[in-house]
Amino acid sequence: MITISHLTMRLAGGGHQITILDDVTLEIPDKQRVAIVGPSGSGKSTLLGLIAGLDRPTSGSIALNGVEISTMRESALARYRRDHIGYIFQSFHLIPTLTALENVLVPLELAGMRTAQDRATELLQTVGLGERLHHYPVQLSGGEQQRVAVARAFACHPPILLADEPTGNLDSATGQHVMNLLLALHRDYGTTLVLVTHDRAIASSMERVIALRDGRIESDTLTDSDNRLAESAQ
Ligand SMILES: Nc1ncnc2c1ncn2[C@@H]1O[C@H](COP(=O)(O)OP(=O)(O)OP(=O)(O)O)[C@@H](O)[C@H]1O
Ligand SMILES: [Mg+2]
Repeated sequence: MITISHLTMRLAGGGHQITILDDVTLEIPDKQRVAIVGPSGSGKSTLLGLIAGLDRPTSGSIALNGVEISTMRESALARYRRDHIGYIFQSFHLIPTLTALENVLVPLELAGMRTAQDRATELLQTVGLGERLHHYPVQLSGGEQQRVAVARAFACHPPILLADEPTGNLDSATGQHVMNLLLALHRDYGTTLVLVTHDRAIASSMERVIALRDGRIESDTLTDSDNRLAESAQ
């Protein structure tokens, strides 16, 4: 369970303070699929980054299973990210000097996994890139790079997968492919999935849609996505 209370983020911008997140309170139970939607600048990426422990709030708290993360020391925060969080950036963020295989190996080697090489190969095969193991990011299409990013984010089976517009730079067929991968990870491993999207169809395949506006929660609704997912699987 992720518990967010009175989360506020203010930053200096153009000589004065701007409020990016304003008193956001919400709980995300384990295994939920959540879409975060809202206009550009409404604070979606900021919220995701705070949940990931990539940034620290001005005030308020974020706790995972009762453990406060917003005040953790840097080393504890790094362990929190390693053990609990997979993060998929909108712009892929692959390491350009490493091949697809080496990019996926990074978190596995950091975690000290002995069979890292086999696991990374298997993951890339799962995302349909078994023939692209030794390609560098520049030699991959956008959709292929995003699939490497999914494999990397999921390499250590994090209980929470955060994805910032994972299909934002992809055509609709490739985007659907990446979404199917994320939904399969959710289904097979019970991963909590929180994703930012501008795409209505994707939002409605989540169980819950949280809309932000001007840094505040504008609406928080449960969808009937499970029925729809069941229908599309038939
Ligand atoms: N480091 C920063 N310094 C100053 N302002 C920032 C910083 N990061 C974000 N902002 C501002 O905070 C607001 C929210 O940004 P955020 O990236 O969370 O929006 P978003 O909802 O993800 O938008 P988009 O849909 O365009 O990605 C924006 O107005 C942005 O300009
Ligand atoms: Mg954003």
